Amino acid sequence: MAAAEAQITLALENVDVVMDSRPILSSISLTVEKRSIVSIIGPNGAGKTTLFNVICGQVRPCAGRVIHESRDITRSQPHEICHGGISRTFQIPRPFPEMTALENVQAGLWFGKGCRDRRPPSATAAAELLEVVGLAHKERAPARELTLSEQRRLEVARALGTRPRLLLLDEIAAGLSPGAIRHAVELVLALRERGLTLLIIDHFLNLTARVSDRLIALDEGKLIVEGKPSDVLDSPSVIASYLGEPLPEAGRGTTYGG
Ligand SMILES: Nc1ncnc2c1ncn2[C@@H]1O[C@H](COP(=O)(O)OP(=O)(O)OP(=O)(O)O)[C@@H](O)[C@H]1O
Ligand SMILES: [Mg+2]
Repeated sequence: MAAAEAQITLALENVDVVMDSRPILSSISLTVEKRSIVSIIGPNGAGKTTLFNVICGQVRPCAGRVIHESRDITRSQPHEICHGGISRTFQIPRPFPEMTALENVQAGLWFGKGCRDRRPPSATAAAELLEVVGLAHKERAPARELTLSEQRRLEVARALGTRPRLLLLDEIAAGLSPGAIRHAVELVLALRERGLTLLIIDHFLNLTARVSDRLIALDEGKLIVEGKPSDVLDSPSVIASYLGEPLPEAGRGTTYGG
């Protein structure tokens, strides 16, 4: 295997998704390097979440391939993909509302490939993951009592419980206060330090442009530009389809598109 190939953890090759006879993703090809942070940007309805659903096996493409760590996972089931080292959070957090924060993370640990027996996973391992996301003080709180920001962090901890090497974060900054967004930026960078590869969707460009090695811009299901954050944000097609006007340096903390 060539050195460059060995560094690729995820590759999509000419992926098409059609729903209700409508093309949702058209011929998407992209690669993600190991231990990099790549963000997907684009207006509402561009197909960003659908792209995550394809990678995680929740939506089956009608053409193309998804390759993770040299394995073709295009036809794999979501649980197989998770056990293979890919985990995600959801745009609208989906914790188990009646379970405590600790139990939510234990559920992730139990589901993850590390736990092959019938005994519940250790509370200590779950507590450590709550600590990673800054929620140690909430371990006994039912998930339904957590704020949006806390629920988003809980989802990250639960996803980490499955021991992913590639983590997909769908809008972790949406609806958060500036202080909570700062925490989200710190968390993303800390996750990379832990050796993870991250694929992020967010409209908050201050987060995506600051933390990402590469941005990929989608519009109407097509990949329109990819590259270094500054190049992508300055690209005429991204300005036309997403930003509306060139984004001043000082404005890169603004939310666009939703
Ligand atoms: N299950 C489905 N059936 C039919 N159409 C769908 C389905 N899921 C998504 N779509 C359509 O696919 C397109 C892309 O949706 P998607 O949720 O991937 O966009 P997005 O880029 O994540 O948008 P947002 O920024 O609003 O989250 C939209 O037009 C949406 O209506
Ligand atoms: Mg979405």
